[in-house]
Amino acid sequence: MQHFGSMSEQETEHRKRRIADAVIIAVIVAGGLSIGGVLPAWFGRAVWLLLAAGCWLWLALRAWHRLTMRQRGWLVFWSYAAAGCAAAWVLHTAPEQATLWVRFDRICSAILLAGLITAIAYNIIYKNKPNMRKKIVAGNWKMNTLPAEGVELAKGVVAGRGEVCSCVNFIVCPPFTHLSMVAEALKGSDIALGAQNCAAEAKGAYTGEVAASMLAALGCKYVILGHSERRQYYGETSATLNKKMEQAYANNLTPIYCVGENLEEREAGKHFDVVKAQIEEVVYNLTEEQFKNLVIAYEPVWAIGTGKTATAEQAQEIHAYIRKVLAEKFGAAAAECPILYGGSCKPANAAEIFAKEDVDGGLIGGAALKAADFLAIGKGFAK
Ligand code: PGA
Repeated sequence: MQHFGSMSEQETEHRKRRIADAVIIAVIVAGGLSIGGVLPAWFGRAVWLLLAAGCWLWLALRAWHRLTMRQRGWLVFWSYAAAGCAAAWVLHTAPEQATLWVRFDRICSAILLAGLITAIAYNIIYKNKPNMRKKIVAGNWKMNTLPAEGVELAKGVVAGRGEVCSCVNFIVCPPFTHLSMVAEALKGSDIALGAQNCAAEAKGAYTGEVAASMLAALGCKYVILGHSERRQYYGETSATLNKKMEQAYANNLTPIYCVGENLEEREAGKHFDVVKAQIEEVVYNLTEEQFKNLVIAYEPVWAIGTGKTATAEQAQEIHAYIRKVLAEKFGAAAAECPILYGGSCKPANAAEIFAKEDVDGGLIGGAALKAADFLAIGKGFAK
């Protein structure tokens, strides 16, 4: 049963549209009457300005959730700038005799000018604010799905992608065997393809290995390197990872470099030292140019696939620390490096974790195997 006040979304939308239509018609009629001399000229100017401001606001609000932080900054800036210009126009043509209105116009202009200056200052500060980083949600499918299932999953992600802000960058990393089929399924979408590993060598007699150049040829843009499962089960060391990173960059792949401590290390309070060493031994060897094209994923081993998640505060604490360690080597560029959280990240906890200043998204395992959950995680970014 429907009660009073619990209108369906469609009805509310419909009502809003009717109100907007009525306001626009009233403004146009009033504007027309003043042009025709029935109402004073200043009234005409005011209503036209109101109409223009209303349209601008309406369009801006509709587009707001799809804009990146930088674009929002510019939108706010131009809103003030346009208002300032409009005020200058009103002031310039204000009838000299109508002292009251001249004064009124001047006050309005002063307010708008102050707004304009604030907007410029805000924009300058805003542009230099560190949190202008890419928002990323990457799916690590690990050794799951058969090729046909992988294609279905990728198609599901493509189909629902439009429901999530275009400011979120989605990446899917299927097993090697599915890459070309998944690449085909992703065609025409903005979802990027990544691999879960690559060989440390360029080519040659390395049975069972897959070279970074092969991944690039299949359309991969990213490659996960140093995942704890690779370090733990396949003995990957920093020495191997340095070579893999070189291969990735040589083939224009962006590495998603994973760091993170295990439970024992966390309990012994060694987590900061562990991630610091993982960064120093590999990331510190990159050139400044290479570093600009790097994604870091912090994945506490005790949270991977266990259902245990680091709290948002724990994630923020170590992400901020990672950024500090990066800044020691790369300076201001560290503020631009996306740092993802990984480890039992799911729709229910993504928003809280992603809300933290230094968390720029997630590397998702289990929850990336269902298109709806994967996309719902992307909705975890604040509008
Ligand atoms: P999980 O895996 O989300 O299943 O915990 C994350 C990862 O290992 O990348």
